[in-house]
Amino acid sequence: TQHIGMSLNQYERMGSDVTMQCGSLDNNTSVSWKVNGTDVKAQHRLEGPRLILTQVDLGHNGLYSCFQNPHGERRDTILLHIGIPPREPTVTCRSNTYPKGFYCSWHQLHPTYIPTTFEVDVQHNQRLLDVQKDAVHKNRCHVRFPEVFSSFPYKVNVTAVNSLGKAFTTISFEESSIVKPDPPERVTATPIRFNPRRLEVSWHSPTTWPDIDNFPLKYFLRYRPLIREQWQHVSQSINQSTNQSKFMYRVAAKDTEIGTWSDWSVAVHATPWIEDPLPITSTTEVDVSTEAKTSPLPSSNAPQKAEAPVGRAARILTFCSPLLLGMLLLFMW
Ligand SMILES: *[C@@H]1O[C@H](CO)[C@@H](O)[C@H](O)[C@H]1NC(C)=O
Ligand SMILES: *[C@@H]1O[C@H](CO)[C@@H](O)[C@H](O)[C@H]1NC(C)=O
Repeated sequence: TQHIGMSLNQYERMGSDVTMQCGSLDNNTSVSWKVNGTDVKAQHRLEGPRLILTQVDLGHNGLYSCFQNPHGERRDTILLHIGIPPREPTVTCRSNTYPKGFYCSWHQLHPTYIPTTFEVDVQHNQRLLDVQKDAVHKNRCHVRFPEVFSSFPYKVNVTAVNSLGKAFTTISFEESSIVKPDPPERVTATPIRFNPRRLEVSWHSPTTWPDIDNFPLKYFLRYRPLIREQWQHVSQSINQSTNQSKFMYRVAAKDTEIGTWSDWSVAVHATPWIEDPLPITSTTEVDVSTEAKTSPLPSSNAPQKAEAPVGRAARILTFCSPLLLGMLLLFMW
């Protein structure tokens, strides 16, 4: 328990029987209790200066005051908080800024109902590393790699602590297993003039990836036609329908050697060039070209480009960044 202003905070475990003591009055003093200014209606017992609540739950939370009989001077106020001790937090670590560093995040699967804090320590090769709190995310911290290509595992211990107890989770991993870039950015797909069977798709490497030259990424392009209800009927005539079909594109990135694929980029939509345009083109198509024109100039990371052939229902393509088009032809099927 601790003093806050005039009242005492008392934390108790859900389901337990709780005893509140009115100040330091002795055992044969008679007192009355109120909660939030009204009589205590919950099941309870009085033992001299003590109020005993049985099997407390969240409904027992409140500001309890005790008054000495017979004149009714207030002797104490107690702020009762019902909660549960923390359980082992779930911890994950990831490097989207390889080889600079990584971050770990944690969360509790079960609410504790009372303030719970976390202590984090990170060890590598018997050394305790500096842990930096994230400025935005409450349950996240950042760690710099003390060295690159280290074969020693990292050990991360996250301890959840509140007034009713503590619990910790320790995870251990190697540098290479937590590398996962952010998705590629500014993905655009544009029709190619006079070429009804191709679209040009371009994207930028994620800006969070710090050293694209020495730690290149490879990419995965996925696309599918946005088939509307009425297209289903003409699907056996693929050539005709896909010529006017609108496609949806997403790109993912991965370090060329280690780690796992990023999440997919946001999807972009585009329709290949059409010789004899349909009277109405869709608004999304306009959005794509507008975005391409107004997007800020590329920074240090140059845009990547690939021409996607059009004409199959759905496809996944892999590229290595320097060989986009070559790889693309190899993967056509
Ligand atoms: C006392 O007031 C608090 C805050 O308004 C409320 O959450 C709590 O349920 C009340 N407690 C009781 C026993 O009425
Ligand atoms: C994790 O840290 C807590 C203290 O925050 C400590 O009690 C516990 O022993 C540590 N666990 C391991 C496996 O290092």
